This record gives sequence, C-alpha cells and structure tokens, in this order.
Amino acid sequence: RKKVIIDTDPGIDDAMAIFVALNSPEIEVIGLTTIYGNVYTELATKNALHLLEIAGRADIPVAEGSHVTILKGTKLRIADFVHGSDGLGNQNFPPPKGKAIDESAATFIVEKAKQFAGEVTVVALGPLTNIALAMELDPEFSKTIGQIIILGGAFSVNGNVNPAAEANIFGDPDAADIVFTSGADILTVGLNVTHQVIFTDADFEKLTQSKGKLAQYLSNILGIYFSYHHDAYGTQGVYLHDPTALLAAVDPSLLTYTEGVIRVQTSGITRGMTVLDNTRKTYGEVTEWSNKPTVKIAVTVDAPAILRIVMER
Ligand code: BDR
Ligand code: CA
Repeated sequence: RKKVIIDTDPGIDDAMAIFVALNSPEIEVIGLTTIYGNVYTELATKNALHLLEIAGRADIPVAEGSHVTILKGTKLRIADFVHGSDGLGNQNFPPPKGKAIDESAATFIVEKAKQFAGEVTVVALGPLTNIALAMELDPEFSKTIGQIIILGGAFSVNGNVNPAAEANIFGDPDAADIVFTSGADILTVGLNVTHQVIFTDADFEKLTQSKGKLAQYLSNILGIYFSYHHDAYGTQGVYLHDPTALLAAVDPSLLTYTEGVIRVQTSGITRGMTVLDNTRKTYGEVTEWSNKPTVKIAVTVDAPAILRIVMER
C-alpha cells in the first residue's frame, strides 16, 4: 500500500479529502502535516487532530507546519470567509484531546521520506511552504520522496483569488516555484480540472440522509461552503478540489495528464499565477525556462467517478 502524508489546511474540502483517504484501503495515511491557508497554522493543527478524532484515527500523528511563508515576511491570506472562522463551518466543536508531535512538518516529511525511500507520497492540499522547507532541509529530498501530488494552480483558466492565481499557490508563490522546479516526481491538479468536479445540491441532500457518522459530520459543516459557492460562483454545488487531488493518489487513472515545465509568477498583479510550458521549446537563451525539470499536470477528470467514490467513502 502506498504510504501517504497529507499536508493540509483544514478546511472543509480538506476534511472531505482526509475522510476519503482514511476510508481508502489502497493507501495508508502515515501522518498529517499542517499549514496556514484556510485558517492559521495553529488552528489547522487543532482541526487536523479533531478530524482524526472524529474518524476514530487519533493514532495517526499530526506534525505542525510553518507559520510563515518561505520568505517569512509575506502577509498571509486566510480564507475564513469560505470555510468559516474555525475552518470547519462555524460549528463550535470542542478542542481536540490530542497534541501534535514534537517534530515540525518539514522534519517529519523528510524523516519519513528517508525511512521509506521512494515509497512515500505527499498529498499537498494547502500552500507549499512545508514542502519547500523539506527541500531546503534535505538536498536529497527530491530523490527520496516517492511522489508529490499537489492541489494547486490554474492552467489556461482564471484563478480563484484573482484572475491569475489559485489560492494554494497564491498562499506562497515562492515556495511553489521551488517545488515545481525541484526535479521531484510531481503531479499537480489545478482549477481547470477541479471546477469540473461539482458536488451538487442534490448530492448534499443525499449526504444529509446518510446515516454514516462521517456523512453526518460533513453535512453539518458543508453549509457555509455551499453558501459561498452559490454567492461567489452561482454554481448549484461546490467544487471538490482537495478530494480530487487525494483521489489522484488513490487511483491515478481517474484523471489524464500532460507534462511540462511550470514556473510561478512571484511578483506583481499576477503573483501566484502558474505558467505551463508543454511545448518543449527551448526559447533560445531564456534560461529561466530552459533545462527545467518537467512535472505532470492533470488535464481531464472522470468527475462522475470521483463523486461516486467520495459519496461511498
Ligand atoms: C484550495 O484552496 C483552499 O481553499 C481549498 O481547501 C483548496 O485546497 C482551492 O483553491
Ligand atoms: Ca486545502
């Protein structure tokens, strides 16, 4: 079984992805690591512990990640207006009983990648600071890590924090550029794909009628996520970003891919924009693009299959 670490900023769609992961026999979740994004890192850690307790999996370790971007000074953008000020639909849950382990997220990821060389997949569902820090900590990390699957980017479509940028990449564009050009085995799932995976109002109705404990829990927290989508996008449903990326780890054949070089815009009004070159041109002397390692980018998705698996699990 594939060993998976989920790097996450829970987050309503993060919660869905975590529950789907815990109910996926194809993978073994060996840890959660946390990052700011939907909430600040400290709260992301509490939420990760809480979600594991809800799922009866408090045995899985949680390692707290960075509180600041890779260049430290950048002001954080927190998406509490999408997920609630607690990140989980403003349900006033009691604090978790458990605590994070003593290791930082980056150290935990580096250690596991070494211990199970080539066998660990990191599924990154928030800004990429912890992954870039792991690369700084261990120059061999890009070789010891099996694969990095990222929910991030918007390829040939608009972003969701501004027309150029998707939220996780916008959260730390400098870290994202380090990760995409690192040479590690990387697969990224962007908005061009996840905007096709819509968990509809009718699916929500079905979820609320399910007697399953996790289904009940999710139907309580999902309300605010639906309101945001109705208001902001006018969609009769919500985008399943993080569950789609997670399922790319469970069954890669649910999506199709192209391959190319990705660079991230790190300044100006397009800060956080992901630019893909899959033409394999050399562009003469433009060395910022030449000789960079390629990554895989999802281009199509079997949305009905994703929705069915999420509902089942
Ligand atoms: C990403 O941003 C977060 O709000 C979601 O959890 C997801 O990881 C979508 O852009
Ligand atoms: Ca997320």
